[in-house]
Amino acid sequence: MTHVIRRKSKAEPAPATTLFLFGAHGDLVKRLLVPALYNLKRNGLLGDGLRIIGVDHNAISDEGFAQKLEDFIRNEMAGKGDHTLDPAVWSKLAKGISYVQGDFLDDSTYQKLAAKIADSGTGNAVFYLATAPRFFSEVARRLGAAGLLEETPEAFRRVVIEKPFGSDLQTAEALNACLLKVMTEKQIYRIDHYLGKETVQNILVSRFSNSLFEAFWNNHYIDHVQITAAETVGVETRGSFYEHTGALRDMVPNHLFQLLAMVAMEPPAAFGADAVRGEKAKVIGAIRPWTVEEARANSVRGQYAAGQIDGKALPGYRQEDRVAPDSKTETYVALKVMIDNWRWVGVPFYLRTGKRMSVRDTEIVICFKPAPYAQFRDTEVDELQPTYLRIQIQPNEGMWFDLLAKRPGQALKMDNIELGFAYKDFFEMQPSTGYETLIYDCLTGDQTLFQRADNIENGWRAVQPFLDAWQQDSSVQSYFAGENGPKAGEELLTRDGRVWHRLG
Ligand code: BG6
Repeated sequence: MTHVIRRKSKAEPAPATTLFLFGAHGDLVKRLLVPALYNLKRNGLLGDGLRIIGVDHNAISDEGFAQKLEDFIRNEMAGKGDHTLDPAVWSKLAKGISYVQGDFLDDSTYQKLAAKIADSGTGNAVFYLATAPRFFSEVARRLGAAGLLEETPEAFRRVVIEKPFGSDLQTAEALNACLLKVMTEKQIYRIDHYLGKETVQNILVSRFSNSLFEAFWNNHYIDHVQITAAETVGVETRGSFYEHTGALRDMVPNHLFQLLAMVAMEPPAAFGADAVRGEKAKVIGAIRPWTVEEARANSVRGQYAAGQIDGKALPGYRQEDRVAPDSKTETYVALKVMIDNWRWVGVPFYLRTGKRMSVRDTEIVICFKPAPYAQFRDTEVDELQPTYLRIQIQPNEGMWFDLLAKRPGQALKMDNIELGFAYKDFFEMQPSTGYETLIYDCLTGDQTLFQRADNIENGWRAVQPFLDAWQQDSSVQSYFAGENGPKAGEELLTRDGRVWHRLG
């Protein structure tokens, strides 16, 4: 068996594999995984030897399961005004789709999976755990006990784990320990779907292939960094999950810290899984562990109340389905963290994420220090506006420098101008759910874009002081749906003489 250790420069079709989707009737499988498999098939990146096997407790025939997926995808696409499900591509993919009915906690289910592998003509298997998190360790243990995780030189066995990976440092460590009892780190693919986003991957490519960036990418030139993931959606149908999770656990140790790592990590020695993940673990591990008092002072919890977005009246969080009427779960969080290393000492990283904010906007703003000498001070331009680099992850993917330029005319006046690049202007963007790269990388054995055990644990370690502080004081500040968080979120920056970049 060969383990790929460098990212590919040319994409070949993935090898024949049996892909088990645990939680086959769940939303993730229907909305994201199967559409991603369809996109990969259409792009010629899946060979004919791929078998997709749904595993769940409901009874349904193989054909019924394939049909259900097809209907769902057609509806989803039609909902987006796209009627182009290619029947030839779908029927090739559907040929490999089947279903196993079984309880995840029943050993006989795993005997059925073994029989499926024996029938498939390949020993390669991927077990994708798109289940509720409480099943992760149970399923892994049973896969191990049934001998399904034993690799041979000819056949790989891999396990994909969705988030949330633990709910704090202790549970994440326990889950890692449990997984590592039945398989090696090389077999574990911990997913963070943000890493499948082109713009996120582009941060590394831009930083490390254009030498100009390195010249100013440090505390001499950068004043602070802002990372925002603003959503307009509420908790939708996930009230009961969200009640125990909240914005911090749902978004920060995973998605926002991945963005932070992409911005702040040192150049890896190679563009391969070990080197890239080693640098990420180092930088996330360098986030200063706040004391409980510091964590309280450097964090803001918010919860949306009824309000409006685009003229549409929306309920408050406490009125959502399966949410307690006196819930204190946060739907917004803003944090200030510091990274204790040579490059970043003294540069605050401000992070915020929230639901029901005014716009959908995921962006990183690198704010530069003002020019060191104010030679224009006797003119109208005595106060220079801050300049910055904005990397937008979604919805309008690209990067823009916001710089100062002289406004034409006799008087010396300046304005902010934009130097930018939008993906859509340069590249044809293939329809994508964000999972295509991750599924393909898993099938071809490239772990670069997956989280290693130490990446996850370092993330929880940095978040733990906030969890501890909030356990003592769980007060949550209200903001109206359609606002960009509570006032205290603004004050986290204004007290440092800074302001959040305007969203949208
Ligand atoms: C998920 C969270 O991991 O990421 C959701 O559980 C959140 O609550 C989603 O809405 C955001 O992802 P994206 O790709 O829409 O930014």
